[in-house]
Amino acid sequence: PVLVVDFGAQYAQLIARRVREAKVYSEIVPHTMPVAEMLAKNPAAIILSGGPASVYAPGAPQVDAGMFTAGVPVFGICYGFQAMAQALGGTVAHTGNREYGGTPLQARPEAGVLLKDLPADLPVWMSHGDCVTEAPAGFTVTAESAGAPVAAFEDLVGRRAGVQFHPEVGHTAHGQEMLTRFLYEIAGIEPTWTPENIIDEQVARIREQVGEKEVICGLSGGVDSAVAAALVHKAVGDQLTCVFVDHGLLRAGEAEQVEKDYVAATGIKLKVVDARDRFLGALAGVTDPEQKRKIIGREFIRVFEAAAREIAAHGDVEFLVQGTLYPDVVESGGGTGTANIKSHHNVGGLPEDLKFALVEPLRALFKDEVRTLGLQLGLPEEMVWRHPFPGPGLAIRIIGAVDEERLALLRKADLIARQELTAAGLDRDVWQFPVVLLADVRSVGVQGDGRSYGHPVVLRPVSSEDAMTADWSRLPYDVIARISTRITNEVAEVNRVVLDVTSKPPGTIEWE
Ligand code: XMP
Repeated sequence: PVLVVDFGAQYAQLIARRVREAKVYSEIVPHTMPVAEMLAKNPAAIILSGGPASVYAPGAPQVDAGMFTAGVPVFGICYGFQAMAQALGGTVAHTGNREYGGTPLQARPEAGVLLKDLPADLPVWMSHGDCVTEAPAGFTVTAESAGAPVAAFEDLVGRRAGVQFHPEVGHTAHGQEMLTRFLYEIAGIEPTWTPENIIDEQVARIREQVGEKEVICGLSGGVDSAVAAALVHKAVGDQLTCVFVDHGLLRAGEAEQVEKDYVAATGIKLKVVDARDRFLGALAGVTDPEQKRKIIGREFIRVFEAAAREIAAHGDVEFLVQGTLYPDVVESGGGTGTANIKSHHNVGGLPEDLKFALVEPLRALFKDEVRTLGLQLGLPEEMVWRHPFPGPGLAIRIIGAVDEERLALLRKADLIARQELTAAGLDRDVWQFPVVLLADVRSVGVQGDGRSYGHPVVLRPVSSEDAMTADWSRLPYDVIARISTRITNEVAEVNRVVLDVTSKPPGTIEWE
């Protein structure tokens, strides 16, 4: 892999993605990892990220000079550039010339490889207080800016380069080209991280891990579990059985999509458990959001466990597939304690006595890569591009107690919102579009010359990168208007549609 050494940058994940966009596999490692451990991973190159510290600050993370004697190509960005310059005997100074944001760069494209053929005047994204004033011996300076006399350097013999600015952000013109040049031309790496290769590699790995054993996978209807299962199926065929629990809290058409489209596309053995009565029974009269979540989580485990035991009765199931993604892996390594805002439920919370080994074929991937794989594996587009949907389903979008009637009503309103969003071609512009029924609220309206006393629904379209923070989507008013008109016309019990204009924080995406 290409290792991205994280010096506390906001951008480490972004760098890793950019490298992958150049079809080169990358992993993020903390700067506290000893160099020997990094080298043990056999890196094709190391990229030192930016970071908040000044190289002169007490306790500032340093670069172990051992990194530069191992013959591994190194690229330094911002803080990583300065730390690299310092470790190799260059000079880093506090000049008092801070540069933040868009900055003009004077490049000498002909002087090296990194900026070759690019314009001499390049707008780049800077964020630094210190700067490199003298490059280490053996390095050619290929760019400068007003606040950075050495803004880019390279040493082709030692296969090392660095830049003061951030090539990974969109505001830097030709940034991706610079990264690519480093990877291909300076480090000599071949672009082999392609969907076809990822699939082949994972299939081989899964076969090796699973052997002749049986495997099960809980499908949520979401893209991660769908792609994970499709990969495992490609690897071990009918040794895999998928379990789909219909808890009655799904949206219109969802169970059918899994039962028909998914099976048609993959040929996977699917066990659908109709647990609608059981869930609705357990939820009857419950209004507290946390209690709803706990009940659903508990029932889910029971149902899944029973299904797993039934499958295990005909063979010995030993493996459980999970759709864990790379950001989950990185974040759980970071580990600062966070408050429990909501109890999320996943298939992950299985009881101890069901002892499965985990198969996690997506552990190395970001969401967009998972989507690309899904398409490559032949999954339907609607499935691959589905918006995230919470495990507890519509139960946490009905504010108040959950029952069949309210679910049916919300399903209708939700379907209208989704249809209109799709018709407007905006599916990929929003992260998620919850529709929430305020089942215990009524307001007065006038419909067909008569007084109505119905329920409001809330439209909650949000844009987000990762669901940790979000903003309300500025959908065109005419789209909102169409949704509103259709919902109040077609869903008799609803006489008012309101738009949620709260960001996260302080609001969460879901209402419960
Ligand atoms: P909140 O409401 O916390 O949601 O801003 C963040 C993201 O998580 C989804 N969500 C869940 N997903 N099980 C899930 O699998 C859950 O219990 C759950 N609760 C919320 C939510 O839809 C959003 O994408």
